[in-house]
Amino acid sequence: MLTEEENEFLTRVGAGTPMGDLFRRFWTPVMLASELPAADGPPVRADVLGEKLVAFRASDGRVGLLDAYCPHRRANLFWGRNEENGLRCVYHGWKFDVTGECTDLPNCPEGVTLKDRVQTRAYPTLERGGLIFAYLGPAAMKPEFPAIESFGSDPAGRHVTKIVARGNWLQFQEGDIDSSHVAFLHSGLGSRPLEGSRSTPYTFADKTPRWFIDETDYGLMFSAQRSAGPDRFHWRVNQYLMPYATLIAAIPGNPILAQIRVPVDDETSILFRYFAHPERALTEAERAMFDGGVTVPEMVPGTFSMVENAANDYNIDRDRQRTETFTGIRSIVAQDLAVSQDQGGGPRLDRSREYLVSSDRAIIALRKRLLAAAKALRAGVEPPEARKPKAYGVRPGDFTLPRDVAVAQGASEILIAAVR
Ligand code: FES
Ligand SMILES: [Fe+2]
Repeated sequence: MLTEEENEFLTRVGAGTPMGDLFRRFWTPVMLASELPAADGPPVRADVLGEKLVAFRASDGRVGLLDAYCPHRRANLFWGRNEENGLRCVYHGWKFDVTGECTDLPNCPEGVTLKDRVQTRAYPTLERGGLIFAYLGPAAMKPEFPAIESFGSDPAGRHVTKIVARGNWLQFQEGDIDSSHVAFLHSGLGSRPLEGSRSTPYTFADKTPRWFIDETDYGLMFSAQRSAGPDRFHWRVNQYLMPYATLIAAIPGNPILAQIRVPVDDETSILFRYFAHPERALTEAERAMFDGGVTVPEMVPGTFSMVENAANDYNIDRDRQRTETFTGIRSIVAQDLAVSQDQGGGPRLDRSREYLVSSDRAIIALRKRLLAAAKALRAGVEPPEARKPKAYGVRPGDFTLPRDVAVAQGASEILIAAVR
């Protein structure tokens, strides 16, 4: 449980809010690179962290990310013309390059010289692993890009889906690190795994995992321990990489799922469901699994919305819920969304009205870590994670170990990424 004040503190994301400022110390994934496929192509809306932004790919291939509203009379640059290395506002023709410099101010005689003094807000961008990242913080604090293994993967080794849904980022993020819900929300009836589940059956058989939580240089390692016969324990290890990504427990050798949660604003979030095999191309069978259904939801073509959505009650099938699966909802993402998007009755959960128990230890640890980091930043202490890019080279895991072996020792090789 949090106080109302702490809840406000953790869930607001705009510039000048505590969490908003913390997010702005890291590289933020804003869109799929494929949304800007070609130089001089159409500009695209790219709102994140409570800011209205427009992205465009200039003639030289660089990606610009600008304040959506033109500094002249605040018309939306989304309507703009992407011309020779700049985006031109269609209202009176002012033009801006990827750095936000005004390069043409054609509607008044003084424009020839005035343009050198006009600037719009622009953020630096980077393209990695099929995503476009932006840095929205103070220039002097811009960090190195973190060594997250998935973003170094080959295009043939990854499958990325972008989903935009209503709901505050934190309740989604809390779901991603919470191994405890998997045995219920994502299970078949009779404690069976869902068809196509990527988790081992132990996850579904033992419904009361014990938590082992490690504070790390990149964030938090959440290990859920379950019984796996008389001599072994099963471990389901999720890695939380501050502040946006969780690497979800995966059987070693399988593609790794990074769930990346990015706030659009206080009440809307992007999920990048990012599957990547660090060492090889995806197989046909894996691709088929990622092509819409249980593991990856079916999308409305040409949108970032799911076919299963709040308006159709996520296509819940009450017959299947009686006879086959715990929820009767088909895709794992829709199962998560159904319970997370209106927790407590609105898009932003009021955490002063919860009843937490020992199985919620991971969620408590996550909140504590984020509160501490955001409070420290308020007091002038920069987040140390942003200065440790190499620490991010880790993997999640789903495996068993002899009962007397601690997860950190027994799995040290499994949990370290081959950083390139
Ligand atoms: S509002 Fe953009 S040029 Fe006038
Ligand atoms: Fe889930």
